[in-house]
Amino acid sequence: MSERLEDIAAAMVADGKGLLAADESSGTIKKRFDVIGVESTADSRRDYREMMFRAKEAMTRYISGVILYDETIRQKAADGTPLVDIIKATSAIPGIKVDAGAKPLAGYPGDTITEGLDGLRERLADYYRLGARFAKWRAVIDIDVAKGVPSATSIGSNAHALARYAALCQEAGIVPIVEPEVLMDGAHDIGTCYEISKATLTELYTELYAARVVLEGTILKPNMVLAGKKSGKTSSPEEVAEKTIKLFRETVPAAIGGIAFLSGGQSDEEATANLNAINAIGPHPWKLTFSYGRALQAAPQKAWSGKAANVAAAQAAFAHRAHMNHLAALGKWQPELEQAA
Ligand code: 13P
Repeated sequence: MSERLEDIAAAMVADGKGLLAADESSGTIKKRFDVIGVESTADSRRDYREMMFRAKEAMTRYISGVILYDETIRQKAADGTPLVDIIKATSAIPGIKVDAGAKPLAGYPGDTITEGLDGLRERLADYYRLGARFAKWRAVIDIDVAKGVPSATSIGSNAHALARYAALCQEAGIVPIVEPEVLMDGAHDIGTCYEISKATLTELYTELYAARVVLEGTILKPNMVLAGKKSGKTSSPEEVAEKTIKLFRETVPAAIGGIAFLSGGQSDEEATANLNAINAIGPHPWKLTFSYGRALQAAPQKAWSGKAANVAAAQAAFAHRAHMNHLAALGKWQPELEQAA
């Protein structure tokens, strides 16, 4: 495969393909395993992820790349094959989460700043040697308007960190996924999500430009424009699509490599229906696909439940969600296809 940043980025958003976000930190995967009653150990985490990476047909057809966690990129399958080699054998590209997580922003209660820039140049060189050709950094922007969250300082600091990360990635020959996630956890309405997302993306592209990041060699991983979960409102896919595309037209340069959404706490089907509605109102200046964690893994996690005997059923559940999101990335999904499974 070509090693040019813009070619890697284009492959990440190839028609009908998207990213599997399997980069849960050890803390997050433990929470997921607690739900299915599985003890989180290096081996159980390996077995679980190996199950998905070995779903060969789904991986080959629908998955352009996999975002890994530091532990996983160094792990070997039960038979001794490096997990990275299993991923590469499906033609998917290995990627790596490189941020060190969102920490409280000093002086700004309720805001966070994502850490991980110190030593990043050296870590990127190591990850490149291990096979990673793209990376991910997630900034977290919560919304609590009554408390003044997010502050302009939080939006600015996170955008600046994303830009420094992105420049270091490109220096290392790695495509940066820039992820400024505006959370859907709050009680805000869809209009507030739109306004905060607009401020966030405007600041992000100002900082990427100032940092001399080559936009063609980047992927944006954004939230969709949605009402907060605690608002009790659900927006229709059509409204989500209309507001999300309006936002991007106003803030996201056409030059970028592509857009791959996070699912952010939407249900599996919601995440698929919304992505489908977004693509159905195209054509758009960018490719728009998925980079889902929860919305791709909730079903296979449940089906697997830590038992070797369930691997085939779990792979089938994973293949189904990947197939549905493949169709949504093309604007060709229909709700009836969910029942058919
Ligand atoms: P979700 O799709 O579960 O939001 O995870 C995607 C991700 O990688 C968040 O950083």
